[in-house]
Amino acid sequence: MSERNLDFDTVIDRTNHNCLKYDFAVQRGKPEGILPLWVADMDFRISSYIQDALTEQVEHGIYGYSEATADYYDALISWFGRKYNWQIQADWVIKTPSVVVALALAVQAYTESGDSVLIQQPVYYPFSEVITDNGRNIVDNTLIRHEDGSYTIDFQDFEEKTARDEVKLFLLCNPHNPSGRVFTREELTRMGEICLKNHVIVVSDEIHQDFTWEGNKHVVFAGIKDSFRDITITCTSPSKAFNIAGLHIANIMIANPDLRSSFKARMNAIGYSQLNAAGLAVCKAAYRQGQEWLDAVTDYIEANIDYTLEYLENNIPQISCRKPEGTYLLWMDCRRLGLNDDELDDLVINKANLWLDSGAIFGDSGKGFQRINVACPRVTLKRALDQLRDAVRQRN
Ligand SMILES: Cc1ncc(COP(=O)(O)O)c(C=O)c1O
Repeated sequence: MSERNLDFDTVIDRTNHNCLKYDFAVQRGKPEGILPLWVADMDFRISSYIQDALTEQVEHGIYGYSEATADYYDALISWFGRKYNWQIQADWVIKTPSVVVALALAVQAYTESGDSVLIQQPVYYPFSEVITDNGRNIVDNTLIRHEDGSYTIDFQDFEEKTARDEVKLFLLCNPHNPSGRVFTREELTRMGEICLKNHVIVVSDEIHQDFTWEGNKHVVFAGIKDSFRDITITCTSPSKAFNIAGLHIANIMIANPDLRSSFKARMNAIGYSQLNAAGLAVCKAAYRQGQEWLDAVTDYIEANIDYTLEYLENNIPQISCRKPEGTYLLWMDCRRLGLNDDELDDLVINKANLWLDSGAIFGDSGKGFQRINVACPRVTLKRALDQLRDAVRQRN
C-alpha cells in the first residue's frame, strides 16, 4: 500500500468540526465567516497511514488506558537518528499532551517563584504566558532585526542577561516562531556555551524542526555535545509536521536523570500519567510511515511560501516579508503602511476579513507585523492575499 492523501489543492470544509480555526471566530471577537490563517495547524488531510492507524483503533472499539510499547520508542529512536543524527534512548522520553504543557512544567520544575526565565522576542506568545502565569519574570534577549528582514542574536545582551543570578532557565525556540530563523550550529553552540558557563538550564522547543527551507538544516541543540545534552530538555512533537495537534502527543527528551526526575515529579504533582490512546497510535504511524506525505506537503508549502512572497512584492509592496528559513509561518512587516496596531488589526480583520496573528502578541518587538500561516490550499491562500491587497488598495 502507498500513501493516498497527496492532494493538497482540494479545499476541505473544516467548519462544524469543533475546529478552533474555523468555528470559533465569533466567540473570539472576530466577524462571522472571517478567513482564518492564524493558528499553526494545516488545512490538509493527514497521511493515509496515520488515518489508517486511527481507523484501526476506532474499529477495535475499546479505548481504555494505554501505554507506549517498545515499538513506539523504536519509531522515535529511528526517526531522530535518521533525520537529525541524534541518538536518543527510550528512557529519556517523557510523553506529555503538548509542548506548551511541557514548557509550563519545566518552568515549575527548574525555577522558583520570583526567578527569571530568558526568552528571545518576538517569540511564540505562550513562552511569555507560561513564565508570568507561574509567577516568574520574563527576561527578554530581543532578536536583532536587520534592514533586509533577517534576524540575529544579540550575543552581548544574551551573555549579560544569562549571567544574572535570577536567570535560571532559557526557553529556546528553534526553528524560531515567528521570525522563521533556523539557528546555525555556530549560533547554538555559542548560546550553549554561555548557558553552561552560567548554569542556566535550556528548554529547547524544536516543534517546527521538520520544516526547513532551501539550504537550512535543523540542528538538535542537545545533539551538539554531551555537555549541552546534560542541561537540556528537548521538546518535540509530530503535531506540526503531521497536522495532528488535536490528538495531543508530545515527546520530551531529557537525558540528565536529575533533570528528568524533577520534571517527572511535576507531572506526578498534577496527577498526570497515561496519555490518550490515539496520540500514541498516530505518533508511531507518523514516524514510521509518514515520510512520503511529509516530503510532499513540504514541497507544497514551500511553493506556497514562494507564491506569497512574489504576490506581496508584485501586489502589496508596502508589506515586506523575507523567506523564512523554517516553519510555515510568514512574518509580514506591515510598518510601511504607517498604521498603529489597532489600525493595522482593523485593516486585516474588518477590511480584509482575515484572521491572522497580530505581531504585538509576540512581544513589543512584534508591533507592526502580522503572522500568516500558509499551510493551506493555494486557492485559499490566493483568496486571502487578494483580500489583503484589496483592503490595502482601498486605504490609499
Ligand atoms: C514554537 C511552538 N511551540 C509549541 C507550539 C504548540 O505546541 P503544542 O500544541 O504541542 O502545545 C507551537 C504552535 O504553534 C509553536 O509554534
